[in-house]
Amino acid sequence: MLEMQDCPFTFSVSLSGGRPTQYDHHITRALSAMHGQYADQQAYAALLDQGDKVIYEVYEIKRPEVAGELPHGVSIVHPGKVGNEYFMTKGHFHAELETAEVYYCLQGTGVMVMETPEGEWSVQDLRPGQVLYVPPRWAHRSVNTGDEDLVMLYVYPGHSGHNYAAIERQGFRKLVVEHNSQPAIVDNPRWRPPGQDLPESF
Ligand code: F6R
Ligand code: ZN
Repeated sequence: MLEMQDCPFTFSVSLSGGRPTQYDHHITRALSAMHGQYADQQAYAALLDQGDKVIYEVYEIKRPEVAGELPHGVSIVHPGKVGNEYFMTKGHFHAELETAEVYYCLQGTGVMVMETPEGEWSVQDLRPGQVLYVPPRWAHRSVNTGDEDLVMLYVYPGHSGHNYAAIERQGFRKLVVEHNSQPAIVDNPRWRPPGQDLPESF
């Protein structure tokens, strides 16, 4: 691990994607860390029986968690599906809701699934060269709809923090699934509008 630097620095991320030449943390999220996130729980259990596959990885440049700093890094979502639902990140709101994030897609194909606490939603395509702006208040989840790694550079404000709880409770409003060999956006049956409780069975 490298010391946090207070002098300007450069590093590179190959345009064909992958591990940056510099990072402080390497985070891996395996299937077992995604419990309850995929709609098809039987398919989830069956896939987990075959081994605890790594679903996504993040190479982070850490910065102090204060306004003015810009933590950044590279996220890599591997290709695959749980049932017909594509591999994806957990997704989160920023704890400081009024903070944004920028993504730049380096490799692969996918979508960013987003929503506000009020239930507005948006799904934007990600392809190499595409820049995505996630405005303040929008929760975000990267989904790999292709058959190679989805690799993106991200940058967000240092005081953002991360709030996973709301997404862990009922997921995003929309799921991204394969339908007739194509990605399709469908309603998440677990999702309830703000203020409405989940049914007992969930
Ligand atoms: C940081 C950010 C990304 C994600 C990464 C992993 O605010 O949005 O760096 O952290 O794509 O996704 P999560 O954090 O949802 O597991
Ligand atoms: Zn974020």
